[in-house]
Amino acid sequence: MKSEDKIKHLEELEQQAFLGGGEKRIKVQHDKGKLTARERIDLLLDEGSFRETDKFVTHRCTDFGMEKTKIMGDGVVTGYGRINGRPVCIFSEDFTVFGGSLSKAYAEKIVKLQDMALKMGCPIIGLKDSGGARIQEGVDSLAGYTDVFLRNVLSSGVVPQISAIMGPCAGGAVYSPTMTDFVIMVKGSYMFLTGPDVVKAATHEDVTFEQLGGAMVHNEKSGVAHFAVDTEIECIELIKKLLSFIPQNNLEDSPSTEPTDDVNRMDKELNKIIPDSPHKPYDMCEIINHVIDRDTFLEVHKYYATNLIVGFARLNGKSVGVVANQPAVLAGVLDIDSAMKGARFVRFCDSFNIPIITFVDVPGFLPGTAQEWGGVIKNGAKLLYAFCESTVPRITVITRKAYGGAYCVMSSKHTRADINFAWPSAEIAVMGPDGAVKILYRKEIKEAKEPKALEKKLVDEYIDKFANPFVTASKGYIDAIIRPSETRPRMIEALELIDSKRDINPARKHGNIPL
Ligand code: HXC
Repeated sequence: MKSEDKIKHLEELEQQAFLGGGEKRIKVQHDKGKLTARERIDLLLDEGSFRETDKFVTHRCTDFGMEKTKIMGDGVVTGYGRINGRPVCIFSEDFTVFGGSLSKAYAEKIVKLQDMALKMGCPIIGLKDSGGARIQEGVDSLAGYTDVFLRNVLSSGVVPQISAIMGPCAGGAVYSPTMTDFVIMVKGSYMFLTGPDVVKAATHEDVTFEQLGGAMVHNEKSGVAHFAVDTEIECIELIKKLLSFIPQNNLEDSPSTEPTDDVNRMDKELNKIIPDSPHKPYDMCEIINHVIDRDTFLEVHKYYATNLIVGFARLNGKSVGVVANQPAVLAGVLDIDSAMKGARFVRFCDSFNIPIITFVDVPGFLPGTAQEWGGVIKNGAKLLYAFCESTVPRITVITRKAYGGAYCVMSSKHTRADINFAWPSAEIAVMGPDGAVKILYRKEIKEAKEPKALEKKLVDEYIDKFANPFVTASKGYIDAIIRPSETRPRMIEALELIDSKRDINPARKHGNIPL
């Protein structure tokens, strides 16, 4: 064959590989309102930057007549490219080929990329659209999955891993994304271990795909997903935005962009946000948005455990993680779900050198049998553990309540936070005044002629003594009491100081967080 013919042959094969499962199946994909694996990659990566790997790989299965149906690429498009100029590895599952199901050869393509991302130190992104293990391949498929899972674990905390669920994500397909750092679900996609038919057979429950594992189920109820978006385009834009807050790997610093907001912006509005009554709620997002660079907040896990807020923002251009109690939901109390949500986010920030700013207004942990039986002790401890083990720069601001164990947990000085501020409205005590008085003076109140009046007097005395930041400040447990209006400049100044922080934990194989 002449050299020109060889090139022509290559181009013909490339064209065949390009079509995946063929035009008919591409049309079915489009008719469902979905993009193809390649269209997704093209939209996500910088124009012309995608370089495909393993385009000609096919499966090796010879059972069930599979030897007659080999499709180049075998159901997953893999390669590398750039997003906003920064290198990334990417794999995009192709539902037009055997329903995007995973064979051993398919897994090997992903594994090769995972190994590359880990060695080069760049993020890896998985666009998921798959019916799970390729049933015809049996244990080879399970072996392939486990090879991928192993690399998910080895890459965790070394390079960022992001998963976008853009269609079915069934059976074995679910474990890889859930071990990545962020899961984004497009509405209409779903994730489940066992589908509605198996659920029906096993438990007699009737559920739809959506009810079992739809985007909002995993965003609101299970917490498996961190983001829900309406369209694939929104999903792609979100991946780009998310990456802009994250360094390429665990050896890089948190990224900075050109500041877009005034460093010295004093904000009088902040002086008015805390209500006069300690029982009145307010929206902590308002405080966050007044302090950070304008319009930079990207909330993570927005629909899950909404009594705690976590997300990324910029402070004078520098990427930071935000953790904050939300007094507008359940009075901002900590519970099982919010502690797990916070712990996971804190550990992500710590892995990737992203400083953490914490806003505290927390009346304590949620009481009750549901919480105690559900393990609020061990689950609450996850957030405590996460803050204690973190060595990234940390700034904390107590805006109002910081009661009991929740005071300790919420990035207190004692957990090695670097700079701890309190507003004059801060109330820091071992427990709330009503509960404290009932315990301390139970006998006196019971025996009083006017128990209600005595109780009120004692509560007022307790508030005078403890419901302020001065007792704590006198012990050095907070570094400064600041005016709310000056929070932004004080935080930026503090961040500049602690940006060079270096702290290490004792050498060990790994800690044993209470799971
Ligand atoms: C092989 C598969 C497949 C699979 C789908 N296909 N899933 N082939 N292995 N796991 C094929 C279908 O046979 C079909 O081929 C084509 O892909 C498109 O699938 P449809 O069913 O027509 O599409 P749709 O109606 O959109 O339904 C999508 C779906 C359904 C809901 C995902 O395909 C489905 O239920 N698949 C099986 C899901 C599942 O139970 N997976 C678990 C596998 S076991 P043709 O040629 O007919 O078009 C597992 C355990 C691993 O994953 C555990 C590891 C830890």
